[in-house]
Amino acid sequence: MSQDTWTAVDNYIDDELGLNDPILDAAIAANAAGGLPAIDVTASQGKLLQLLARLAGAKRILEIGTLGGYSTIWMARALPFDGRLITLEFEPKHAAVAVSNIEHAGLSHLVEVRVGAALASLPVIESENAGPFDFFFIDADKVNNPVYLDWAIRLSRRGSIIVVDNVVREGGLADATTDDAAIRASRKVVELIASDPRVDGTVIQTVGTKGYDGFAIAIVV
Ligand code: SAH
Ligand code: DHB
Ligand code: MG
Repeated sequence: MSQDTWTAVDNYIDDELGLNDPILDAAIAANAAGGLPAIDVTASQGKLLQLLARLAGAKRILEIGTLGGYSTIWMARALPFDGRLITLEFEPKHAAVAVSNIEHAGLSHLVEVRVGAALASLPVIESENAGPFDFFFIDADKVNNPVYLDWAIRLSRRGSIIVVDNVVREGGLADATTDDAAIRASRKVVELIASDPRVDGTVIQTVGTKGYDGFAIAIVV
C-alpha cells in the first residue's frame, strides 16, 4: 500500500461523490497562481469538516490558518444564512488570495479573514465576545497547537467540536524521544485531550492525495 494507491482512491472518491466543483477548483488554481504552497486539506477531508460542522449544528466557526481559504469554503458551506466564520491568517499574501477565493465562492457575507498572528487575534476575538464558537479547525503553525487547543476550549460552549489538522506527522506522533518541535506539540495535544476534563476526543490517522497524517477531534464536555 503506497502513495499511488492512496491517490487513486482519493481520485475515485472525489469523482464518484462529485467533491470537486468549479469554485473549489478555481480556489486551488488561484492558490497555485499566487505561489501559495499546496498544503490545503484534500477534498474528502474538506467534506469531513463540512459534515462535522453540520453535525454540530454550527452557526459560528473559528479557523486558525486560512492559507487560500480552501478549507474555509468547505466549512462556510455548512453555515446557515446568518452564520459566521472567522479565519485567522498570518501572511497578508495568503489572506488576500483567500478573500478573493471566498468572494468568488459567494461566501463573503459569512466569512471574515483576519490578518495577523493568531496569538494576537485570539485575545481580540475574546474581548469582542465573538464566541462561543460551535466548531473550530486548527491548522496553522503546528508548534502552537497546544496553545490553540486551549484557546479553542476557552472560546467554546459545551458540545463544541475542535479539529486539529496534521497531528500524526507521517507516524512521528508515536516517537516519544523526538526533538521535532511539531511532533512534540502534537503529542502535547493528545496529552491534553487525554487529561483535560473539559474535552473528550480521539485521533484518526488519514492517508490520501496529501500523504499520511491525521486529525485530532475533540468535543467540549
Ligand atoms: N486551512 C488551510 C491550510 C492552512 S496552511 C486549508 O486547509 O485550506 C497553514 C496556514 O497557517 C498558512 O497560510 C500560514 O501562513 C498560516 N500561519 C502560520 N503561522 C500562523 C500564525 N501564527 N497565525 C496565523 N496563521 C498562521
Ligand atoms: C503543512 C501544513 C499543513 O497545514 C498541512 O496540512 C500540510 C503541510 C506544512 O506546513 O508543511
Ligand atoms: Mg493542515
